[in-house]
Order: sequence, then C-alpha cells, then structure tokens
Amino acid sequence: MRSRLFFLTLLLAGLTAAAAPVHITTPRTSLVLQAEQGAPLRYLYYGARLTDGDAAALEAAGFRGQDALPAYGQGNITLTAIAATHADGDMTLDLALENWSTRTIHADADRMHAAEDAVLTEFILKDRVHPFTVKVCYKAWQDVDMIETWTEITNGDKKPVLLRKFDSACLPIRRGQVWASHLTGTWANEGRLVQEPLQPGVLKIENKDGVRNSHTSHAEIMFSLDGKPSETTGQVIGAALCYSGNYLLETVTNDTDWHRFFAGIHPDDSAWELEKGESFRTPELAFTWSAEGTGGASRNFHRWGRAHKLAHGDKERKILLNSWEGVYFNINEPTMDKMMADIAAMGGELFVMDDGWFGVKYPRNIDNSSLGDWQVDERKLPHGIQWLVDAADSHKIRFGIWIEPEMTNSKSELYEKHPDWVLNAPGRPLSEGRGGTQLVLDLSNPAVQDFAFGIVDELMTKYPGIDYIKWDANMPVQSHGSHYLKDQRKLFIAYHRGFAAVCDRIRAKYPDVTIQACASGGGRANYGILPWFDEFWVSDNTDALQRIYMQWGTSYFFPAIAMASHISAVPNHTNRRVTPLKFRIDVAMSGRLGMELQPKDMTEREIEQCRKAIAEYKEIRPVVQFGDQYRLVSPYDGLGLASLMYVTEKKDEAVFYWWKTEHYYDQHLPRVKMAGLDPNRRYKVTELDRIGEALPFEGQSFSGAFLMENGLEIPTTPNGYAEQVAMQGYSSRVLRLTAE
Ligand code: DGJ
Repeated sequence: MRSRLFFLTLLLAGLTAAAAPVHITTPRTSLVLQAEQGAPLRYLYYGARLTDGDAAALEAAGFRGQDALPAYGQGNITLTAIAATHADGDMTLDLALENWSTRTIHADADRMHAAEDAVLTEFILKDRVHPFTVKVCYKAWQDVDMIETWTEITNGDKKPVLLRKFDSACLPIRRGQVWASHLTGTWANEGRLVQEPLQPGVLKIENKDGVRNSHTSHAEIMFSLDGKPSETTGQVIGAALCYSGNYLLETVTNDTDWHRFFAGIHPDDSAWELEKGESFRTPELAFTWSAEGTGGASRNFHRWGRAHKLAHGDKERKILLNSWEGVYFNINEPTMDKMMADIAAMGGELFVMDDGWFGVKYPRNIDNSSLGDWQVDERKLPHGIQWLVDAADSHKIRFGIWIEPEMTNSKSELYEKHPDWVLNAPGRPLSEGRGGTQLVLDLSNPAVQDFAFGIVDELMTKYPGIDYIKWDANMPVQSHGSHYLKDQRKLFIAYHRGFAAVCDRIRAKYPDVTIQACASGGGRANYGILPWFDEFWVSDNTDALQRIYMQWGTSYFFPAIAMASHISAVPNHTNRRVTPLKFRIDVAMSGRLGMELQPKDMTEREIEQCRKAIAEYKEIRPVVQFGDQYRLVSPYDGLGLASLMYVTEKKDEAVFYWWKTEHYYDQHLPRVKMAGLDPNRRYKVTELDRIGEALPFEGQSFSGAFLMENGLEIPTTPNGYAEQVAMQGYSSRVLRLTAE
C-alpha cells in the first residue's frame, strides 16, 4: 500500500477550530495531530485507520487535543517530555508550531521484506522567546503498522543551552480499563512478563546500568486498552524505545482523562549542553496498534523487526554449537577441532569459540584478566585463528569467535598501556567488576572507539573466513567518570554515541558478518542495538523450563529469529534442574536453534536425537524464523502447560509447540486451540522430535477451522525414552502442519 497523508481542511460541518489535523497512516492505523501554526503541536488520535472524513471530524466527536511534546515551564510543570535551561538562566520552554512537511523515505532496497517505503512527517516547533527549535518526526511505515518517532533539538542561541530532559516522545492514552504488559527480571531470569492495571500514580520502568539495558526492566511496553490483556482480542498500543543506553519509561496517571506515556533517554545522571548550532537527536520510539490483542501487537513488532530493524532480518540463521557451557575457558586446538567435527556430524552449520582464546602476557584462563589483549594465546592455539577457520572449513561448517570489545581488566597489557582509557571517577580507587578486575572502556573517547573498531577490523582483515562474532559486555558502569570528557554529565549518552559510531563503522566495512549481542546473557535485548546485530543471547540460563517463561516474555516484542536458544547439558549449569533431552530440544527449537554443551559427553543415542532434531529444524526453520507467532496458552497463567505456534504468511505451513510446565497427580490440562491457520484449508500433522509410538493423529489431516475451534488431544502422559518418562513432569510435543 502506498503512503497517504492528508492535510484536511476544516470546512466540514460542526468544526470551528482553526486547527488543521494532519493524518498520518500505516496500512491499518491512523495517527492524527492538530497542527495549528503558532500553537503547540497536539495529539488527537491514534488507533484503527480512519477515513479522511472521520479524521477531520474527531473534534466534532468531542476529541480534544493533548500536548504532543509537553515542555517544562509554561503550564507544564509535572508532565514534561523536554526541559532546558537557557543561557540567561530561564528554565522554561514554550514551543509553538512554525510549519510542517512530509516526504517519502525509501526503504533499504536490499532487505527482502522492505519493499515498501515510509512516510516521514516533520513538525518544526520554535520557542516563543529563545532561538530554540525542536523538530518532531514521525516515520510511518507503509508495509507494517509501526510508526517511529523522535525529536531533533537545535540551539540557535550564541551561548550553550543545557538540556535537562530529552524524551523521544509523549503518547497520551485515553483512560478506561488500561493494563500494561512489560518485562522485568535479572541476570539468568530475563524477560519475565508482568501485567498490571494502570492506577493513579506513575508506572516507572527504567535502566541505569550504563552499558547494557535489559537484564532487569525492558524498554518496551504494551497497553491493553480494553481491560485485562488478551492474546487475541481488544485494542493494544505497544511501544519500544530503540536505545542501547539508560532509559526511562513513565506512564503518568493523574486527575485527567488521560494516561501519559513518556519515553526517552534517562535524564537522571545525564544532561547535555547544546552548543550554538548543535542538534541533539533523541532515539526512536517505535509504536504500534492492533485490535488483535497482545498477540497482534507482537506480530506487528516481529514483522517490523525483521523487515526494518534487525541486521539481516530476512536471512535464515545458522544452527550453531557455542563452546561456553561445554568447555568454559579450557580452549585448545584438539578440543575445538573435535567440537567442530561433532557439531558438523550432527548437521550443525557453525561453531563459535567462546571466551578464553586470547592473552599473551596474561593468559585468559579465568575471568580476571586479559580483556583488551586480543592476541591469540598460542599455548592453547599454537596455529592461531586461521587454523581454526580452516578446520571449520574442512568440517564443512563456518567459524565464529567471541570478543568483548568494550571492556578491559586491570590485569591486562591494554590497561598497563592506557590506564586513562577506562571509565572511573578520576582520583578515586578503581571500581572493578567481573573477576574482581574488569573495567569498562571509555567509548566516548575517539581513540577508544578506534581501538574497539580495530579489534573487529583486525580479526576480519586477517581472517576473512570468520562468519560470526559473539559480542559480549559483562559489566555496568560502576564508577561515573571519563578521563576524556570535559563535561561528566555527558558520560552515559556519549558512551552510547561512541558505541553506535563503532558499530556503524563495523557494519559499513563488514555488512555480512553475523553478530550476536550478548551481555552477561540477555542484557542487550533492545531494538537500539539490532540494526547492527543479527540476534541476542536471551539469557545465560539455558534451563528449558525457565527459558519457556523468558522466551515467552521476550516474544512480546522480539521475533524468534532474534532469540538465540540453545540445547544444553543437565543438570543445568545455572539452576541445576534436570530435564529430558527431548524437552530441551523442543524448547530450543522454538527460537534460533543452537547447542551449548560438550558433544563428546553425550551418548550415541543423544547424539542421534540431536542429529534428527537439527535435520527437522532445518525443514521448519523458515516457519519459525519468518512466520507469524501465535501464543496459545501462557505459562504465566499457571494452567500447567505452555503452547505457541508459528504460521507462514501464506498459511501453508505451521509449527505447533506444546510444553508441560507443571506436573501433579489428577492434573487436567486444557485442549489447546490452534490459531493463525486458514480455516478452509486442510493441514497434515506430523510429529517432530518424535520418540516412540506415533500419536493417533500422525499423518492425518484436519481443517484449519477444526484445529482452531477444537485443537488436538495431546496425551498428557510423559513421553520420550524410559529415563525421560521417569522425569514425569517434562512432556513436550512439536507438531508440523503442512497444508494439502
Ligand atoms: C557471558 C555470556 O553471557 C556467556 O554466554 C559467555 O560468553 C561468557 N560471558 C564468557 O565469558
């Protein structure tokens, strides 16, 4: 669908105001703003797509404009999206619309799904007293229901202006029965779903880690407008702040008819002095609307993520073995070679050598040294990296490598040479992290940016056969201080500008390499990093049961293709839980499948089970990685199971997952109704990762209507090999549905 933007005259009956609504559209949504010259920009409506007539008649319907960017000082004291102190000490802003314009932005031509363009609408607001300009931008995609909004703030004064608050947007949400869904957690338990009604007061979601930003709160939220969140029905507005650094999302409910949602860079501990002529661009807030409940909003995020945000969102991901849980720091040539041979024999396509391969003066044998010294440790790998790349080649797989470019240790050659490259309050003792010695490099410093870029550049220049980089970040900013910056208030923002600059340079030179964003597990699940990264590590916790909850929550905003999901050994290394291999496979197969163990410790039968699972995953990979996701039964509902499915856009293929999450005597699990299928087509059912007897419906066909109205009776008895059956609680099934 082509872009349409209407400048509506207000000659329609019943309208007397002088405002001229601007109607911004996506295929199924409308955003309507009141853009009256000399007045503040006002938000009128966001929701289902309107006709031109209805968009023009909003005021006649009693809809009243809400400030689209509340500024501090003139009328707005408590609800503020933007605040600045001018050179003369004036702390107020009074922003009035000067003009607005619209233009088409051409989509990234080399992305399969991004054939459609976006329409960019820009409103220029000017302060009535000071030469201070704010451009409010809305980029409306024409192939997915997603609008990205941000501001560009420019100081036209001769003297600097201090920015104190710099939100990307304010979204007014009409009160009614509004519930919020958002994610919380901690290391090894990321992405936990929280759902709560909005109450008077402030719902505050924030991150102040400095480096990573999604272990605890996430910078995304959904508002269910029609009561308690439903996966299938009711209107939902979802929003994601695309930013790699500290953020603040606040939903304020006071004595008006509106909740006000503010999102932006966290203003605590940060301020930006804008020099004469300098502009400050805020990160994008991407928002969507759906009438198909939280599931519909998630599918919008997934489509947009794949089409416009993730690196290579249209390319299938390789099935990999990562060495971390298999050998930790015990890297050596024979072990690496054997692991490569083993994953290749199971049908895998990539081997990733994790931490422990580097350090000459200080070998990296545990986590207390060597970050920054990115020279291969020849005591472990006498023939260097090229030997490993060649070995992978001889096993007919690709090779990937782990790095942590933003960090160093006080025990490293890099730190000995450049003690001023680390973040630490000058004059204070070092505040060290992981291993008791880790330190964050100061990416605000261009010399450090060159160094970080150089790590990747050198690896990729010397070893162009490297196919995959796992980019880790295992420490927050613990001590506020840059030796480089004159103004310490800029530190957090300057760090992430530096990070972005490094990533831009890497992608300009190495557009094809796959890069995973890892940050002590799931610390970097955020759309702010995904334009440079192909995927993220969901969590260091690979326990299948806990992963069901984490991947469920994460899927509210991120597509399966971005979620690295690995089969690991038992007892699980994080929580010591023992689950059957079948259960672990069946969970890992619902994301970007990989393995994270030492294959030489597996039995022949386990290897065969994984070999079969990998072969089957290859067949369903396009469905999982590019399909629409339908969440069917939530693990958070405590019904004893979780179930979801993926369906291709053409509705000709689907994969159904069913995992038992609880086990007790006299348990009665519900029959799961499927979703997203074509009611008029028949689908043949085949079980994947099957062990033992066929289910009664194996090879049978059913109409999409039957499957969606009734579903199949999945036996609740434990399944799998005998010892797996003995672990009564962990039944699981994966069914492939193929349209006839
Ligand atoms: C933390 C990551 O989350 C792990 O997967 C692993 O790469 C280690 N770092 C290595 O130190």
